[in-house]
Amino acid sequence: MERIDVLLGLQWGDEGKGKIVDVLTPDYDVIARFQGGPNAGHTLEFDGIKHVLHTIPSGIFHTNKVNVIGNGVIIDLFIFNKEVNKLKERNIDATRNLKISKKTHLILPTHRLLDAAYEKSKEGSKIGSTLKGIGPTYTDKTARNGLRVGDLLTPDFIKKYNELKSKHIDILNQFNFDYLNHTLENLSFNEYEQQWLNAIDVIKQFDIIDSEYYLNDCLQNNKKIIAEGAQGTLLDVDFGSYPFVTSSNTTTAGVCTGLGIAPNKIGKVLGVFKAYCTRVGSGPFPTELFDEVGEQLRIEGNEFGSTTGRPRRCGWLDLPSLKYAIMLNGITELIMTKIDVLNTFPSIKVCDKYSYDNKETEIIPFDINKEITPLYKEFDGWQGNINHISTYNEFPENLKSYINYVESAVNVPITAISTGPNRNKTVFRNVK
Ligand code: GDP
Ligand code: IMO
Ligand code: MG
Repeated sequence: MERIDVLLGLQWGDEGKGKIVDVLTPDYDVIARFQGGPNAGHTLEFDGIKHVLHTIPSGIFHTNKVNVIGNGVIIDLFIFNKEVNKLKERNIDATRNLKISKKTHLILPTHRLLDAAYEKSKEGSKIGSTLKGIGPTYTDKTARNGLRVGDLLTPDFIKKYNELKSKHIDILNQFNFDYLNHTLENLSFNEYEQQWLNAIDVIKQFDIIDSEYYLNDCLQNNKKIIAEGAQGTLLDVDFGSYPFVTSSNTTTAGVCTGLGIAPNKIGKVLGVFKAYCTRVGSGPFPTELFDEVGEQLRIEGNEFGSTTGRPRRCGWLDLPSLKYAIMLNGITELIMTKIDVLNTFPSIKVCDKYSYDNKETEIIPFDINKEITPLYKEFDGWQGNINHISTYNEFPENLKSYINYVESAVNVPITAISTGPNRNKTVFRNVK
């Protein structure tokens, strides 16, 4: 029997997961998203096309491969419909190769309003949520109030919808939230809700399945599956910098619950990380740079959110947190992305330890307000364009030293290096 491979982010999201999944898709039969929702923005670039996916797995452009939205994902019908239409413009008919779990929870329009109301009430301590309704939808899931894709197929769906909506409106009233005057995606609430409801007919055109049976049958039949993560390990609801996290388990454990795959059926676990760090939204970021070097990373790396357009916070690579992510996920191989962004830097720093409470340590403290001083190792940059290079041996020596240092510090092989946003800018490396 085959095992399922996993690909996920090791930092605060936006590590380039979408690009890498698209590159690896030819090696697999099935690509399955296991958590998160349209808070994700996964960018793919090829043949002059730049495409951002939010809910749909990044294997969708390979029309002979099956894509699955698992039960651990949450789906907004309005955004899903928009994604389906965008794919149509690129001549991709997603109904042909996308299956959706009956157990996937629905983000109702009022979940988005609740997200906005909760964020507004937090005043000085906002999470910096993408405002896609993620927190309230997962809350309703665990509170056992949620609605699922399978419910759309039942005759009394609208009744269930109205019941949950009216509970939400009661809460919104407690917050004095004027929802009728709140815009969602530049539409009034009523217009947005109407389009959300209209999209029920769109999702019904898809294969709505018991995805846990489907995926386990695939493994039985020796089909190869890759699970695609969203967000990043440091945004995990249990292990991230709580409460500045998302509301799902972004780690390998999330594959088991989010797809119905037993732990002993997990195969390779591929961890994607940038050659530096970024974070969008609030929360601790020990190596964050507030100077012109941080600005240079933002400009060279085009670090503006794929989902919200917000400028991303930028800083140096943080090895203690990378090691933590490797430990939590059981990473077997690493993929380093956006190395080309450092092409022009005369020197490159890597944080290999933290200093706080008068000690040097690699432990991330429980107290997110603790003042951490990152301790750095400094490397000479390679100061040249590496974007055209297609084999590892051709990389400049200074770049190889940087890669070797990171690899030996974390003790996991780096098997691929991404040198640009395009599908073909990926250098694979055979490491024993
Ligand atoms: P994801 O959420 O992990 O899929 O990542 P995003 O798509 O949100 O953000 C990654 C951004 O970096 C996108 O704009 C990608 O096109 C781009 N990107 C991915 N890999 C590379 C790379 O190796 N070099 C550069 N310069 N850009 C990259
Ligand atoms: P991908 O899959 C980067 C961040 C938000 C906010 C926090 C909580 O593209 O890597 P939420 O909307 O989940 O309640 O927001 O998490 N966040 C992401 N940051 N990439 C993402 O996804 C993110 N999804 C959520 O900015 O700080
Ligand atoms: Mg992203």
